[in-house]
Amino acid sequence: ARLVVLVSGSGSNLQALLDASRDPSYGAKVVAVGADRFEIAGLARAEAAEVPTFVCRVADFATRDLWDKALTEAAVQHQPDLVISAGFLKLVGPEFLRAFGGRYLNTHNALLPSFPGIHGPRDALAYGVKVSGATLFIVDEGVDTGAIIAQVAVPVLDEDTEETLTERIKVVEREQLVEYVGRMARDGWTLNGRKVTVP
Ligand code: GRF
Repeated sequence: ARLVVLVSGSGSNLQALLDASRDPSYGAKVVAVGADRFEIAGLARAEAAEVPTFVCRVADFATRDLWDKALTEAAVQHQPDLVISAGFLKLVGPEFLRAFGGRYLNTHNALLPSFPGIHGPRDALAYGVKVSGATLFIVDEGVDTGAIIAQVAVPVLDEDTEETLTERIKVVEREQLVEYVGRMARDGWTLNGRKVTVP
């Protein structure tokens, strides 16, 4: 299966997918990496792995819809079976969802539906929950509201800071992402009651 991965930052989840896909039996391969900004480690990781990249910055388009259209066209060029948001900090628009609906996955650093948004670990700590984790889900029009594919839990420790909790979650988040993307690529998955298989 062909994967396009979208990033906005450090790209450690991207790196886990790049590493996994070195083994042909993994069943999925990162064919392109897209970003909403330049000069991020995620793009450098893609370049180091000799994977093509594209950048679509919201500020370069007159409207959000035009940005959405450009992002969609850039991703379509690479004919992905699955698109993965791995720390991509933009909400995609209707055109992107029309093109990739049901095939666009996101990984979030909290146990949804708790603590959606960009501060999952911080919000979990502030609330005082004793368990948090990571959620892999299919993106819909909402913010972190789509159908859940998998979740993994970690303990929240009394001495945790935002950084330590974030790091504990990221370790299991990467493993979960690699495991489930591989499974979906190899075995297909169900969408609206119908089995989806990828080449
Ligand atoms: C992940 O923990 C994800 O849940 C959150 O941002 C982080 C991305 O990390 N939305 P990285 O860029 O893959 O290292």
